[in-house]
Amino acid sequence: PWSEERTVEIIAQHKALEGPLMPILHALQHAFGHVPQETVPVIARELNLSRAEVHGVVTFYHDFRPELPGKHVLKLCRAEACQAMGCDSLVERAESRLGVECGSTSADGRVTLEAVYCLGLCATAPSAMIDGRVVGRLNENRLDELLKEAQS
Ligand code: FES
Repeated sequence: PWSEERTVEIIAQHKALEGPLMPILHALQHAFGHVPQETVPVIARELNLSRAEVHGVVTFYHDFRPELPGKHVLKLCRAEACQAMGCDSLVERAESRLGVECGSTSADGRVTLEAVYCLGLCATAPSAMIDGRVVGRLNENRLDELLKEAQS
């Protein structure tokens, strides 16, 4: 779990860097598994930024999670090559199966669905990643298998 003390410590380790905000956010996410909302005012205070500025950066980058992820994380690529191969309908399918939108976790806490922008697997688009394992040539059947795996 996050703590203010640990947050201040992590900020202190990166504060001297030029442009310290991104490294700090990455370090917080690494330490806590997400970037808790509660850290925003702490970062703002320590770096002399407004809360809105910090919040803006946290929400702009898809890398940062505002909530703890579910047990499994399914990322679907939505960048150009995968778009061309119809990833949008796969995203819709996953959203409706899980009952969540991209960027959120299913109500049972099992699966976090996220969009990702290129996994470097454009040749086998559409691509996905489940718990760090990449999967190419995704189609409806393979997606359903991944969802089943993640929900089991
Ligand atoms: Fe999807 Fe590159 S665009 S893997």
